[in-house]
Amino acid sequence: MAANHVQPDRNIALELVRTTEAAAIAAARHMGRGDKIKADQAAVDAMRHMLSGVEMDGLVIIGEGEKDEAPMLFNGEFVGNGEPPHTDVAVDPIDGTTLTAQGQAGAIAVIAVADRGSMFDPGPCFYMEKLAVGPAGVGVVSLDNSVQQNVKDLAQSMGKPASEITAVVLDRPRHEELIAEIRSTGARIALIKDGDVAGAIATAWPESGIDILFGIGGTPEAVITAAALKSMGGDLQGRLWAADELQATQARDQGYDLGKVLGMDDLINTDNCFFAATGITTGDLLEGVKFTSTGMRTQSLVMRSRSGTVRLVEGIHRKSKFDSILEE
Ligand code: FBP
Repeated sequence: MAANHVQPDRNIALELVRTTEAAAIAAARHMGRGDKIKADQAAVDAMRHMLSGVEMDGLVIIGEGEKDEAPMLFNGEFVGNGEPPHTDVAVDPIDGTTLTAQGQAGAIAVIAVADRGSMFDPGPCFYMEKLAVGPAGVGVVSLDNSVQQNVKDLAQSMGKPASEITAVVLDRPRHEELIAEIRSTGARIALIKDGDVAGAIATAWPESGIDILFGIGGTPEAVITAAALKSMGGDLQGRLWAADELQATQARDQGYDLGKVLGMDDLINTDNCFFAATGITTGDLLEGVKFTSTGMRTQSLVMRSRSGTVRLVEGIHRKSKFDSILEE
């Protein structure tokens, strides 16, 4: 073996996938039942239970919200078994609560972990203008460029015409102008109802057929997405977007720069991050949870940025054993 080989160390993502599998299964049991709060609570409970077995001293930076409003996995909560390593944690037990409650495509359970002190705290800015691409778009597109320029440059870098570029955009009234601009380039658009974490990751997942994500979505989701795109060699750029004047003032008072383009290192300032996601309902990225006569099947993505490994993990869960672990 070469003298300068690197000793393999622990890949926490391989343990984190158990937390997203559990959250996805718990959420999927509520699929289409019309109650997104129940689905979310089930996913939070399952993820939290599984997190207690992960060896880390994790501080939740991106959680379900403030302590008094969120019964569990709130911002500032410590998770894991309390042993080193000291980490920051970003959770979204369901990205796509409405998709889950309505039985629609593209909901995932997701978690990201990185070195302590490395994750961006969104503060009062819930939204961010985002641009995400896979490896072919790195160094090619920029949030400072026009939509037309970005589509043209990406098409050139990918060696295909603009008419074969597929952009994913959240279907929101605030995106009316953006959608018109994208259409004017001749690009195709996949409008999604929710779930821009999966939408952004899909840009770096060749089988998805998605090339670029444009539009305003959640800032917490952007931090989580950065962990995945760091592993996949893609890029995410964001600019904080205040929903109203009050939010803008609060953000400025707390020292946030609303004009700055934030890159991946602004969102997660380390090359040591871990990511896991499990499909709840089937989408462009992952298969959803399937219930069989003996149990459940899951499909997950497990990634680590330092090594750049991306694993697609199929899980087969025996119902009786899975339920007994969650009841412990
Ligand atoms: P939830 O699962 O919390 O409902 O979030 C879904 C989502 O679509 C995110 O993926 C996205 O970043 C955000 O909501 C967009 O916010 P809004 O629905 O307010 O436009």
